[in-house]
Amino acid sequence: MKPEIIITEDGSNSLYVSSLNESYHSGFGAINESLHVFIKSGFEKAIEIRKEINVLEIGFGTGLNALLTLKESIQQGIRISYDGIEPNPIKREIYSKLNYPYLTDMPDASVLFNRMHESPSDSKIEILKGFNLRKIKSGLEDVELKPDFYQLIYFDAFSPDVQPDLWELSVFKKLYRTMTNGGVLVTYSAKGQVRRNMQSAGFVVERLPGPKGKREILRALKTGKR
Ligand SMILES: C[S@@+](CC[C@H](N)C(=O)[O-])C[C@H]1O[C@@H](n2cnc3c(N)ncnc32)[C@H](O)[C@@H]1O
Repeated sequence: MKPEIIITEDGSNSLYVSSLNESYHSGFGAINESLHVFIKSGFEKAIEIRKEINVLEIGFGTGLNALLTLKESIQQGIRISYDGIEPNPIKREIYSKLNYPYLTDMPDASVLFNRMHESPSDSKIEILKGFNLRKIKSGLEDVELKPDFYQLIYFDAFSPDVQPDLWELSVFKKLYRTMTNGGVLVTYSAKGQVRRNMQSAGFVVERLPGPKGKREILRALKTGKR
């Protein structure tokens, strides 16, 4: 499965996988989507109560969410430990061509983006003071996750139509267990069955307005009240 670099409507790149007929981001804008779904609806909510957070990303992929989170963490003085699960890391010939560092207004964005991709899997690496990254080279289904550990989860797997197993109730139960009370999980999908699976796992689920081209997204909160 060799991804192909494409350009989305806001000028930022994404990757298209022809064998799945699926791209890594919305065609209406990869950066626009990532900022809306993961930063604004997830990160901003999680840091309301803590200035030091453990983040888990399901599907590290291009590293776009990690880069934007790093930028926010610098601007807002938040310490981050970021774990990114990814069974199929993208190769240098791909990540070196992505235009995210040039579109992210942050000093040394290219250096930091490359450092993220070049860091070895399964070790905790300091990308910048206050931002540690551990890439986990495995599928979510095979990873053991510590209980009560994460304050924020970016659920950015391929869509439920393409990868239905990753959106099952058992997966959301696993993610519920690994989150702390007050923890936040965000995803771009607003599918009814996904929402019901999240609720059955114990989350309180909100439907929020989506980014351009998408009516709604989901935010699931672990309130600890059940
Ligand atoms: C929609 S893409 C998003 C990637 C990334 N968040 C980004 O912004 O580029 C989905 C990602 O999930 C990864 N993935 C595929 N199977 C997976 C699995 N079993 N567990 C975790 N991630 C998986 C894919 O390789 C891909 O990088």
